[in-house]
Amino acid sequence: MKTIKFGLVLLAFAVFAIACGQATVTNNAPAALPKDAPKASPSVAPSVAAVIDGKELYTVNCMTCHKDSGKGGKITVEGRAMNPDDITTAKMKAKPDEKFYGYIADGFPDDGMPAFKDKLKKEEIEAIIKHIRTLQGS
Ligand code: HEC
Repeated sequence: MKTIKFGLVLLAFAVFAIACGQATVTNNAPAALPKDAPKASPSVAPSVAAVIDGKELYTVNCMTCHKDSGKGGKITVEGRAMNPDDITTAKMKAKPDEKFYGYIADGFPDDGMPAFKDKLKKEEIEAIIKHIRTLQGS
């Protein structure tokens, strides 16, 4: 009997420890790991994700230069001639999301593309990447 009781106490501790572990993850997750967020905090993350419209964000932030199709092409923006890339090519399609994230966050200031890391939230950049994937036909 004593052994069973001890076992139960251990079990209770284990459950408690696991619960605490999850609570810690939940506290850190929404900003840092939106992909995991729905699992960790079901009440908050999905509604936030639903509000962010990647297409709209693309239209507002990227379309002037990359066109609504993503094909880009020579343009002059605020008196500056530039040649935004076609971001729908097979080569671009093959690049991982992290690459796109870097391009968008840091921009190409020397070539005319602004950095967006201070303008857009992580979730917003990720939503834009999702929209670019649809432009790439995936
Ligand atoms: C003011 C014009 C401008 C805006 C706005 C702009 N870009 Fe760009 N973008 C460029 C130019 C110009 C280049 C080419 C840079 C180079 O040749 O080095 C570029 C390059 C890129 C590339 C890299 C393509 C490659 O071949 O490596 C990606 C991806 C990209 N832009 C995505 C975006 C996204 C997404 C947005 C909106 C959040 C955006 N851009 C907004 C002008 C712009």
